[in-house]
Amino acid sequence: MTVKTMEDLFIETLKDIYYAEKHILKALPGMVKKASSKELKKALETHRQETKGQVDRLDQVFALFELSPRGKKCEAIEDIIAEAKEHMEEIEDPEVLDAGMIGSAQAVEHYEITRYGTLLAWAKQLGRADAIELLQANLKQEKHADALLTEIAEAAA
Ligand SMILES: [Fe+2]
Ligand SMILES: [Fe+2]
Repeated sequence: MTVKTMEDLFIETLKDIYYAEKHILKALPGMVKKASSKELKKALETHRQETKGQVDRLDQVFALFELSPRGKKCEAIEDIIAEAKEHMEEIEDPEVLDAGMIGSAQAVEHYEITRYGTLLAWAKQLGRADAIELLQANLKQEKHADALLTEIAEAAA
């Protein structure tokens, strides 16, 4: 699709985060399994469930624009998740691995936070109040997940 208007740009970015959320959803079970600390395991599992809800909300945003949900390959998220997988394959010490996974997970959250922040700003600009609430709900969960990961990392240090 050629981007010509702000709405096109919004939709392209929506496809990007849709792809990212689906990719994250696939990666999270492996991370939950590999996490040693109870707190980290729980936080990642909770966020896996939240992520399912986020995909549902994105489905609804697509519907508001009368589009069927579609992802657009996002290499940024693929690379961040590849880094997490590398840690999981290479790091043997469980505490070091937890720290590495937290670092990668926070990189994921920050990516999501920046995408949702941008989408929210553009939804406002486009006067799409209907999409704002859904995007805001996802952004809130990403910020909460990020803060929780910081807490877990600091408690372990
Ligand atoms: Fe997410
Ligand atoms: Fe997230």
